[in-house]
Amino acid sequence: MGLTKTQREALLKAATEAREHAHAPYSGFAVGAAVLAEDGSIFSGCNVEVSNYSGGCCAERIAVFKAVSSGYRLFIACAVVAEMADNPCGPCGACRQVLWDFAPDSEVIMSNPTGSVQACMPLSELIPLSFGPENVLDAIKAQHGSG
Ligand code: THU
Repeated sequence: MGLTKTQREALLKAATEAREHAHAPYSGFAVGAAVLAEDGSIFSGCNVEVSNYSGGCCAERIAVFKAVSSGYRLFIACAVVAEMADNPCGPCGACRQVLWDFAPDSEVIMSNPTGSVQACMPLSELIPLSFGPENVLDAIKAQHGSG
């Protein structure tokens, strides 16, 4: 996979900047995220909380959905920036699934805003025994085939 230092820095910068826009009045936990497309385009997002709680959305999904709604479908890396004590903060389960659908071969960079706590690993290691688009599409094909 191997991101360049420039790509890594640009992605972390975008996620760190997006985190400044986090709307987290209920949890107080601000998160920024950014995804990198193959052509170098970067899309960022922050978490947005709403008063009924369930209507909110994580930073990672907002970054992916912004990118997808701008015409992009495949991402090679994702950065997540949040305040973390000693251990890096990984994407939540729902975000791992969304990333798996749109960025299966990606590298996930987790960092705190200053960069003093960081981790990086392939998404495939964060979502073992994954369920993905092929599972659904193969089942649909099989159904039509037998019908
Ligand atoms: N959050 C994210 O934005 N990304 C994550 O990976 C973990 C959690 C947000 C959701 C919620 O707004 C707040 O952090 C606390 O859970």
